[in-house]
Amino acid sequence: MTSTKQGRPPRILSGIQPSGQLHIGNYLGALKQWVELQTQYDSFYCIVDLHAITVQQDPAALREGTRRNAGLYLACGLDPQHSTVFVQSHVPEHSELAWILGTFTPMGWLNRMTQFKDKTSKMQTESIGSGLYNYPILMAADILLYQADLVPVGDDQRQHLELTRDLAQRFNSIYGDTFTIPQTFTPKAGARVMGLDNPTAKMSKSESSDLHAINLLDTPDRIKKKMMRAVTDSGSEIRFSDLDERAGVNNLLTIYQAFTGESAEVIENHFVGKGYGDLKKAVAEVTVEGLRPIQERYQALTGEGGYIDEVLKRGAERAREVAHKTLRSVQERVGFLLP
Ligand code: TRP
Repeated sequence: MTSTKQGRPPRILSGIQPSGQLHIGNYLGALKQWVELQTQYDSFYCIVDLHAITVQQDPAALREGTRRNAGLYLACGLDPQHSTVFVQSHVPEHSELAWILGTFTPMGWLNRMTQFKDKTSKMQTESIGSGLYNYPILMAADILLYQADLVPVGDDQRQHLELTRDLAQRFNSIYGDTFTIPQTFTPKAGARVMGLDNPTAKMSKSESSDLHAINLLDTPDRIKKKMMRAVTDSGSEIRFSDLDERAGVNNLLTIYQAFTGESAEVIENHFVGKGYGDLKKAVAEVTVEGLRPIQERYQALTGEGGYIDEVLKRGAERAREVAHKTLRSVQERVGFLLP
């Protein structure tokens, strides 16, 4: 493990919202990489429930989703010995730092956020909560509180990372070195999984169509049914491709590759002379097999009464130690009378 200028191992932080079900896009694009990174970095992985309530949530479903996601983080291989796994709202420093950072964030910066524009383009202004507008500030607080060096996120979060860096730089230039400037980290092996029903858009938890995503807890039967109905095209060639009209087949091959670890060449050879039906069946099989150990671990973890809550409690304690130190130094610098 190499170390940073602060003389500690480089730190990683990332998070996923507990709204909706975790799916194979989250696993192959994020969680699987997090697991690999946890032994090389000081890792903080959170369940961002404060972000989830920027759109209305059913309280019972949110609570259940938070515990389920925590269980799935662990089932996917995050190990509390290596990673600090915690729930964002268990660490009140996130909200406190977000407020302070908000006072340093020009509205012009927020107005440029394309995710906000995308999310709200179909909403009435009256129904857009200001939390959704301020979402990137809270995300900056998540990252800066832990002095994270690296933030593994998908392309859709790059702009939020830029804003985080700008904010950290602005604060540092006014008050002196306070925050580590984080880098976006795109692990090479990460697979970008697209929606099965709409293969030109990234697989998403908030999509309502039942045929959009394979969830990590889907039964083998459901996995097969959904895969067999995945959108393809009218061609017949089974090859990787970056053409939009071939995005469906490319997506199936990407999933196959992520679960098997085989090279593109080996995979394409394997499917020579076969049809889309064979491809779908094969992708369903490797998906079922790939998820089986995760589902088994999940069942075992949830069977051990209280284990997940215990991990989250310890995670929040460790997270708070680090977060508290950063928040204190920020409060001091902006001139608060410390209690
Ligand atoms: N906005 C991120 C997403 O939707 C989730 C998130 C919140 C996050 N806070 C974070 C990701 C901090 C990385 C670091 O994907």
